[in-house]
Amino acid sequence: MRKTITTALAAVLLAALTACGGGSGGSGAGNGTDDTITMGFAQVGAESGWRTANTKSVQESAKAAGIELKFSDAQQKQENQIKAIRSYIQQKVDVIAFSPVVETGWDTVLLEAQRAKIPVILTDRAIDSDDTSLYETFLGSDFIDEGKKAGKWLTENTDGPVNVVELQGTTGAAPAIDRKEGFEAEIKSRSDIKIVASQTGDFTRSGGKQVMEAFLKSQPDIDVVYAHNDDMGLGAIEAIKAAGKKPGTDIKIITVDAVKDGMTALANGEINFIVECNPLLGPQLMDLAKKVVAGEEVPERVVTEETTFDQEQAKTALPDRKY
Ligand code: AHR
Repeated sequence: MRKTITTALAAVLLAALTACGGGSGGSGAGNGTDDTITMGFAQVGAESGWRTANTKSVQESAKAAGIELKFSDAQQKQENQIKAIRSYIQQKVDVIAFSPVVETGWDTVLLEAQRAKIPVILTDRAIDSDDTSLYETFLGSDFIDEGKKAGKWLTENTDGPVNVVELQGTTGAAPAIDRKEGFEAEIKSRSDIKIVASQTGDFTRSGGKQVMEAFLKSQPDIDVVYAHNDDMGLGAIEAIKAAGKKPGTDIKIITVDAVKDGMTALANGEINFIVECNPLLGPQLMDLAKKVVAGEEVPERVVTEETTFDQEQAKTALPDRKY
């Protein structure tokens, strides 16, 4: 009888401890009240149509998966993202996910997360670190391949000489570095294609417009704009029109993303080719988070599947485009 009472008491105590977050498992550490997983998500910002769609996907998927989401917008500043990650560590979330603004400078804060035994998932963008134990997995696109696809279209659809101006994404960001690298590797085979000017437009429409205005003044002969995202390409379109030229005809435009506004401009003939970059990473991210928190094995790298669109393909795809 005494043994039965002791066992029952122990069971009650254990249940109480687990409910208070005192159990040894990672799950439930965030809110301390039940088994709900808490995810701290440090977003880059709201710089583009892609980012808006990505944020929506993460928020909706967390809700659908029953994951409590703590969300922060870093306004494209690394120091804000580091602050957000530190605050998630303090709050003892179960898992941290983030899309790094830039590639380098993350080791210190990720070591802090590791010491606090909080797993980290990289989503959308990678980091440049020798220590791959700092994160569990990286879910996102192959940005080098995206740059290659853009370059391939150019080599196959133009006769030389071709003067290209490049609107780069945020300096130091993985998609800016990789999309440049992939594009350059692909056009190498054509000595008559030259990048005559290249500058960052910070992945924003206003940045793309401003840089393109300057390019139009400094470069007498522009044949092609290669923009690292749709938003900068759309900004360039405004600048080209203001300069009295016809985008898509007088100056050809290649972009990356394939968000609705970009696809509309492509279908209207103002952009010539778009390489898709899929922002709907939310469902896969939540699946990975559940596995990581449960201590299950996950692949080191999960690559997003993507396609490309020319003007005719854009007309067909546009009515069903979700973002
Ligand atoms: O990291 C993905 C890139 O970031 C998208 O191509 C761009 O639009 C965004 O700002």
